[in-house]
Amino acid sequence: MTAVIGKQGPDRGDTDGGTVHRAWDELLARRTHALGGGEITAILALAGATDIITFSGGFPEPATFSTGVLADIAARLIAEDPGVALQYSATEGLAGVREYLSGRLAAQEGRAPATGELMITSGGIDCMELLAKSYVDPGDVVVVELPTYLGAIMAFRGYEADVRGVPIDDDGMRVEVLAGLLADGLRPKIVYTIPDYQNPSGLSMSAERRQALADLARRYGFLILEDVAYRELWFGSAPGASTVLGASSVLGASTVLGTSTASPPSVWSLAPDVVLQAGTFSKIFSPGFRMGWAAGPAEIISRLVIAKQNSDQCAGALGQRMLEEYGRGGHLDRQVAGAQVLYERRARLTTDALAAHMPDGATWTTPAGGFYVWLTCPDGVDTVALAAAARAQKVAYVPGLPFYLQDAGAGGNQIRLAYSRVADDLIDEGIRRIADVVKSAL
Ligand SMILES: Cc1ncc(COP(=O)(O)O)c(C=O)c1O
Repeated sequence: MTAVIGKQGPDRGDTDGGTVHRAWDELLARRTHALGGGEITAILALAGATDIITFSGGFPEPATFSTGVLADIAARLIAEDPGVALQYSATEGLAGVREYLSGRLAAQEGRAPATGELMITSGGIDCMELLAKSYVDPGDVVVVELPTYLGAIMAFRGYEADVRGVPIDDDGMRVEVLAGLLADGLRPKIVYTIPDYQNPSGLSMSAERRQALADLARRYGFLILEDVAYRELWFGSAPGASTVLGASSVLGASTVLGTSTASPPSVWSLAPDVVLQAGTFSKIFSPGFRMGWAAGPAEIISRLVIAKQNSDQCAGALGQRMLEEYGRGGHLDRQVAGAQVLYERRARLTTDALAAHMPDGATWTTPAGGFYVWLTCPDGVDTVALAAAARAQKVAYVPGLPFYLQDAGAGGNQIRLAYSRVADDLIDEGIRRIADVVKSAL
């Protein structure tokens, strides 16, 4: 991209009558070179698209937002509590909000964060950014699951981490592979995991592996970053509906038949001394508020608070107070319960449609919670190349490639399908269009 800057600017580039025509990319900091393209920007750009069936963004269904209740709370807070709700907040978050969240964690995880172990963040990505900013020097090793959440790869690479991958299977991260790497001398500072209904695979880590991972962290002295973005969105409120069928799983090492209830214990609850939990209200409340939390060792939280002071200073106070009022009023728990049923139904419609339309050789995961089905097309299908053909058919998905470390060359025939925001009656048609595009490539 070429821009025009004045004489006082850097003096390299083409000149034209005293004006320098600058390619701004030449000025980019070295650390941005590893960041890749605008995959997330492209996903967010589709947020408002109405003429296309989009399985691309991990967006919650807007019908889950309780607009009437939120309007009442906002009006009341602005009228009655402007001195707090419209003001800066403490960087670690408002005390009342942290107290509410602490009680919520205690009820769900059987453990409340001690003093100094909890802060409010601006969504889940904020925690990753603050951690990377505070603890990652260029070349430091950070281990991620493969595939994994693209935003986390970008947060670590943004600080020039040496990001390494450990594959997942139907039981989540293959902790025995990590153990082998550690035994061979790999010394990560951070191991990042999404144990519940992972983005992009929809798969979860078994209870045994959670404990084994915590044991490794204690033995080798690394921090586990546990991302619980989808943890509460488990299926199973309708009996028998959340059976995990290993036979249809792309990663299908084992066949697990059973009905899930809530998720296994969080890694943070098992090992709060070596785990930083990154939580977000984006998927269960609303991403518009940009609310999340970080829970972990007080020593680490205090460093993240310092780092936040020169990023956005604090999470927005109005959003914090609205979340607190909404939560204390019981609305959040009701919203989560309704969302579980909705997403479970959409997940089933998606896997039913895949079974009806996909060609032989395609496999996919059957999630027990969360937003995603992970589709593996027959060998040789290039899902990046096909994305344009899909768009022409008015359907969108995210190709698998960016969920891997691109030098590994994996994911080329995979697709992430986010069913969370696709209307029930469009799911079958959308999957049929994707299947037609895939078939055309065979
Ligand atoms: C696994 C995971 N973690 C974190 C986030 C970031 O969420 P937030 O909107 O709270 O920053 C996402 C969003 O897609 C996600 O999928």
